[in-house]
Formats: sequence, C-alpha cells, structure tokens
Amino acid sequence: MESNFTGPKDYQKYFHGRDYLQTYFDFDQCDIQGPSWLLFILKQLHQTFSSGDVRGDTLIDIGTGPSIYHLLSACECFREIIATDYLDRNLQELERWLKMEPGAFDWSPVVKYVCELEGDSEQWAKKEEKLRKTVKQFLKCDITKKNPLEPLALPQADCLLTCLCLEAACKDLDVYGKAMKNITTLLKPGGHFLLFLVLQETYYTVGQHRFSCLYLEKEQVEQIVQETGYCVEHLEVAPSLEKDVSTLADYDAMMFLIARKMKGV
Ligand SMILES: C[S@@+](CC[C@H](N)C(=O)[O-])C[C@H]1O[C@@H](n2cnc3c(N)ncnc32)[C@H](O)[C@@H]1O
Repeated sequence: MESNFTGPKDYQKYFHGRDYLQTYFDFDQCDIQGPSWLLFILKQLHQTFSSGDVRGDTLIDIGTGPSIYHLLSACECFREIIATDYLDRNLQELERWLKMEPGAFDWSPVVKYVCELEGDSEQWAKKEEKLRKTVKQFLKCDITKKNPLEPLALPQADCLLTCLCLEAACKDLDVYGKAMKNITTLLKPGGHFLLFLVLQETYYTVGQHRFSCLYLEKEQVEQIVQETGYCVEHLEVAPSLEKDVSTLADYDAMMFLIARKMKGV
C-alpha cells in the first residue's frame, strides 16, 4: 500500500476542510443519519465524559481537522481544550465556527444529538457557547515530529484525545508507533489517552479525492498502545454498518479505547 500513501503534500494540496465536513457531517436539522462511526464515537464520548472519571484542567486534541463533534462532550469536563492540526486551512475552518464568522459550518444537528444523549436537546445553543469558550487555542501540529507542537513546549495535559488522525497520517506500523510515542509526550503521567480509529480501512474520500488509511487490526493497535506505555482501561469495537453500501470509505469496524499513561514513561 506504500505507493498509494497520501502524505503531507497530498494533505496540503487536496484535503479541504469544507469538503470533509460536507462529505461526512452535512445533516438534516432533526435527523442525523450519519456514518455508523459517528454515532458510535458520540455515544462512547458521551459515556466517557458523563462518568466523571475523565476530567481535569487541559485536554489536547490531536489532528482536530475542521471538526468539533468529538469535543462536544469533553467541553463539560475541562477548563481548556487545545485543538491542533497539520493544516492551517483546517484550523481556519474551525476558527470560523468558533468565532461564529460568516460561512461557518452548521454543526447544530450534531450538537443537538449530543445534547439529546445528555438528556436535553433544547440546550444545544448553550452547548455551542460552552465549547466556543473552552477551545482556547488552535495550534499547528505534526505527529511525525518528536515534539508534535514544535516550536512550542506546552505543559503536559491531563487528557489526550485523537480521532481518525493517526491511521490517516502514518504510512506504516513503525511510523504509527513512533507517532503515538510523539503525541504521548504531551500527556502527564497518569493522564488519560482517548483513541478513536477505524479498523481494516485502506482509503477514505474527501470531496473528489481518496486518502490512504493505514490498515489496522484491533490487536495491533492494542499492542502499540501498551508498548507506548499505557494501561488500557476500556476498549470497544463495533462493526461498520455501511461496509457494502458506501464507497466513501472501506472500513470494516471502529474502535475506541481509554488508556492511562503509566508513571515513568
Ligand atoms: C480524517 S481527518 C480527521 C479529523 C478529525 N479528527 C475528525 O475526526 O473529523 C485526518 C486529519 O489528520 C490531519 N493530519 C494529517 N497528517 C497529519 C500530521 N502529520 N500531523 C497532524 N495531523 C495530521 C489532517 O489534516 C486531518 O485533519
């Protein structure tokens, strides 16, 4: 698959945040019939953050892209969220929503869905306001660098979150393992690592363009997480419901895990 790998230059050229949002998050107001991975991760994150076990001062999200869906439950549990991405363009798309600028993407169907999970869909406008206040920084990041936020050196965070980023950005398992080590330096010992990914996927589509995805099995990811210095506390896998009906992506399953960074790592 290496020859088909879409790396940094392809992201610079072809990954347009607005296309990505329109491909995966463009819903009717009252009905989010999203891809099965989206409903899966929204429920997982809702359960995780409403449990009260994962909370703290700072959460760093790696490879945020132009998205906010995965920060909606988290913003209730942290004083500050730091969003990061490789592409300035994605950060600008995100900033447009955070600052309520003209042309910002309409996330309200997804926000309403999360509020419904939390027990009151009427609260969606307050939820948007809360998230806008909580995302305090959006920073350039490259997970292939030893310090992914270089030249900045931030204090280690209480929680590290990453959704659908590592498998998109890494060309093989070796690079994947190194990237996980790199981002782990941003997390305090004892802090929580929340990882969401798709399994057995070789590509996903953004607008007219196909991006490669590192084909991963659950056991490989679990092993790399442990070798990086984490203790896995929760792991959930669910099959894709659109495997044979969608040509947007070819993932077979999705996986969410919660792990703790061990002391001394
Ligand atoms: C499939 S998107 C996921 C975006 C978002 N996390 C989500 O769940 O919607 C993959 C993201 O990884 C980012 N990315 C690609 N290479 C990267 C790298 N080397 N370091 C950090 N982010 C990278 C892309 O810019 C893109 O935003």
